[in-house]
Amino acid sequence: MKAIETLEREHRVIEQVASACGVCAEVLRRGAQVPIDVLESIVDFFHQYGDRYHRQAEDALLSLLHERGVPTGACPIVVINYENQKRKTLVDQLSSAVSVYLKSGGVVDETLINTLEALAQFFPDHIWKEDYLLLPMAEKVLSEEYKRSLADSLNLIDSMKGTEARQAAEKCSTAIRHCMKVVSRSEVAHSA
Ligand SMILES: [Fe+2]
Ligand SMILES: [Fe+2]
Repeated sequence: MKAIETLEREHRVIEQVASACGVCAEVLRRGAQVPIDVLESIVDFFHQYGDRYHRQAEDALLSLLHERGVPTGACPIVVINYENQKRKTLVDQLSSAVSVYLKSGGVVDETLINTLEALAQFFPDHIWKEDYLLLPMAEKVLSEEYKRSLADSLNLIDSMKGTEARQAAEKCSTAIRHCMKVVSRSEVAHSA
């Protein structure tokens, strides 16, 4: 698979977890519980898969674009860099809110719900900019030699962090699937 397609495919994995954040927020807003392991696996996913894996790959792409003369102070790079900071803030916020939820024995506060909602809204928009602006631009700007260099960087990142990242993604999607089953069973019980 080509390096740019790899980044695009990773976005599909992140989108699924972002959408699960929205469902968790909805469940909590209705006053129902979300198992702590689901929330912890979401935080772990954003750290392992988002920060340490996908983000590193994206950094490799951004530095190659910079080498090719794409200005860092102009659109879309400036927006994407700004949003990456915002993403980090939201993930840190989620991590603290989940710790509070755990320590309180499941008492839900607004910060947890608001942060889950913010993440569910943030990712589709951010990923759209990358899929439709950043990656198509990279496809045009990078020569075959640069694309090979990107592929080498991605392979290196994958060899160092890929296994852990995929395990975090798998664990997270298993926890989410389990949670969805519980939620839909309780909805059926409520409507009966
Ligand atoms: Fe991305
Ligand atoms: Fe990004």
